[in-house]
Amino acid sequence: MSSSWRHAAVASFVVVCLSCANQSIAQTPSRPEVLLKKMTLDEKIGQLVQRAGGRQRALNSRIDDAELERVRAGGVGSYLHVAGAEPLAKLQKVAVEESRLGVPLLFAMDVVHGYRTIFPVPLAMAATWAPESEERAARVAADEATAAGLHWTFAPMIDVARDARWGRIVEGAGEDPYLGARMAVAQVNGFQGGNTLRPGSLMATAKHFGAYGAGIGGRDYNTADLSERTLQEVYLPPFYAAARAGAGSFMVAFNDIAGVPTTANRELVRGTLRERWGWQGLMVSDWGAIAELLNHGVTADRAGAGVLALDASVDMDMVGGVYADDLRDAIAKDPARLKLLDEAVLRILRVKEQLGLFDKPLAYNDPDREARELLAPEHREAARAVARQSIVLLKNDGKLLPLNADKLRSIAVIGALATDGRTMIGSWKAQGREEEAVTLLAGITAAAPKVRIISAPGADPRNAEVSGIPAAVKAAKSADLTVLMIGEDYDQTAEARSRSDLGLPSSQMELARSVFATGKPVVVVLTNGRPLAISGLAEQAPVILETWMLGTESGNAIADVLFGKYSPAGRLPAAFPRTTGAVPGYYAANPTGRPADPDLAKDTVRYHDLPITPLYPFGHGLSYSEFRYSNLELSTTMVDPGGRVDISISIENSGNVASDEVVQLYVRDPVASVERPVLELRGFKRVELGAGQHKRVTFSLTPEQLAFWSPRGQWLIEAGRIDFWIGASSADLRAKGSFEISKTHAGTAPAAALPTRVTVSND
Ligand code: NOJ
Repeated sequence: MSSSWRHAAVASFVVVCLSCANQSIAQTPSRPEVLLKKMTLDEKIGQLVQRAGGRQRALNSRIDDAELERVRAGGVGSYLHVAGAEPLAKLQKVAVEESRLGVPLLFAMDVVHGYRTIFPVPLAMAATWAPESEERAARVAADEATAAGLHWTFAPMIDVARDARWGRIVEGAGEDPYLGARMAVAQVNGFQGGNTLRPGSLMATAKHFGAYGAGIGGRDYNTADLSERTLQEVYLPPFYAAARAGAGSFMVAFNDIAGVPTTANRELVRGTLRERWGWQGLMVSDWGAIAELLNHGVTADRAGAGVLALDASVDMDMVGGVYADDLRDAIAKDPARLKLLDEAVLRILRVKEQLGLFDKPLAYNDPDREARELLAPEHREAARAVARQSIVLLKNDGKLLPLNADKLRSIAVIGALATDGRTMIGSWKAQGREEEAVTLLAGITAAAPKVRIISAPGADPRNAEVSGIPAAVKAAKSADLTVLMIGEDYDQTAEARSRSDLGLPSSQMELARSVFATGKPVVVVLTNGRPLAISGLAEQAPVILETWMLGTESGNAIADVLFGKYSPAGRLPAAFPRTTGAVPGYYAANPTGRPADPDLAKDTVRYHDLPITPLYPFGHGLSYSEFRYSNLELSTTMVDPGGRVDISISIENSGNVASDEVVQLYVRDPVASVERPVLELRGFKRVELGAGQHKRVTFSLTPEQLAFWSPRGQWLIEAGRIDFWIGASSADLRAKGSFEISKTHAGTAPAAALPTRVTVSND
């Protein structure tokens, strides 16, 4: 058990208890049990009801008298999209002082990558390959959100996404279940902060359980039709890890898996998550998703939808109103359903108790704390540090970067995105404000005060308008160098923003071509929320810096990297394809009977018109420095199923600037009873190294982490050889070794969910 797990098990919302999932909780009735006994049927149903307040700035706009009456009658368990220490105190007082049983409300919002101080979008934070940074970001977000009266966030989104057409890839950690599991745990720990009774603890939601990221064709909300093995090995591990970390709540996905809508998937939700994994937290539906069961065509009426969801153990109905309006009759028809209702109510009351709300319902409502926390200078500093870590240097021909501000007289900053604060803060901005975001233009201007800065929008990604290009070309010609920011805007990647074409918006490409044609040096700064198909751009651009959407401190963080104050070390959490037609393409693919041949010499598993490799592979990212990998050592070459093998390597910063290096461990089971992927990530560490410094990195791997989902429907550790590689990306493998697992044995958990312990020592 890692230390963070231990930590979570002591103080978290949901102590995972593999043996007691169905046991009644305690001998002496708990407060939730006592309350449940006193509740009328309507009060019980009321706890299951989540209603929407306002949205964004119009928060609380809908909390009118009729709504307050509903609260007094015990008809609401939770509100979402509400905020503010004072207004929420008023609302909470109505619940606890004016309703019959005084049950407090839960206040929720999508606090995804910051509340007022906005951190990089989650895909960008995954590019840090530094779970400790994700944890820090989530902690800051929780400090701010809880100061504004919130108890609960609908984050982290931990859906594995292997198809960049899916607009919500921006909200997660990319294509890999192991990286995804680490980032999931980090965020759960960050949001919840260990002690759930502390008013700074924000209940996390692991979403969207279980295969929302696998929608066919990358279309949002679409059916996932995938094998049980892929579900177990790829899509579920981050959820298992989040459950073990004590995530207080989960959200079910909108979509169906092979015809079974997850909101009604008894086998997956009640069976796998609750009974087999022992998770006992609060399961919330997605927005209106219980009512959408009618659209799925698995029930003819709303009452039927409510029964299906309740039976699957979905506790709370987010805004759909099915539980509120239709559960009463369904229970009257079959009183056996009362037991399901009681269980759901208990789970909701339990998290309210674990948040301390029965004893201190107004603990989250301190306006002074709210004023202190929001956008605190140390929060902005943390956002800048994480933003710098998220930047990925995709290409740096001729070592054009870093720039020397002392040697440049003028810089043209070109592109509409370079002044677009709204795009910098990305989708799910909570209470982030675009006017508080540092744009690229502002960041460069501040970092190079002696350099003449000329700016021109050129073209905007939102439309095909290119009339600004001549002025941009003129600006580029008149400057020593151009920093060209192109990409997607915040609204081109998000929920319901799947795209069929992963190329740059046409106006952006035209702008780029025109600027390249000036023959002046150009640094391309990409902003986007998903991997893009940019082969055309990459052919022409000598330098490409991937900056995603980096939040409130975007411009400062990018300037830190451009001018060499910070050496980039972010790594791609999802590959960049050569063309849209090459997705989904992921490094952890099966070998097939005709494995990929990089020389294109044979008929292999590839497109006839395209190399099999991506444009930029998973794990890729350059540095201003260089690193040498040497002295691979292995603690043993034969390991028992319950044992472990320590793999260590020396990493030297052989360049002349300080820089982080992300050391990556990949494994392969070359001969197994089922085909195993050609590579699977099973460990990584972002290591800080001064110029000339070297350190030893040791990965402690267990055979459990090499288990696979067998055709018999269980985890299996198979005897035999395991190959492993340590490298700087999935396509830059520097050292290889192998060891043997002595015996075949049953595994117990999703292999990719289990953490590899990594230690760094002086060498
Ligand atoms: C729908 C989204 O799918 C979900 O992720 C989000 O938490 C809810 N809306 C609430 O905003």
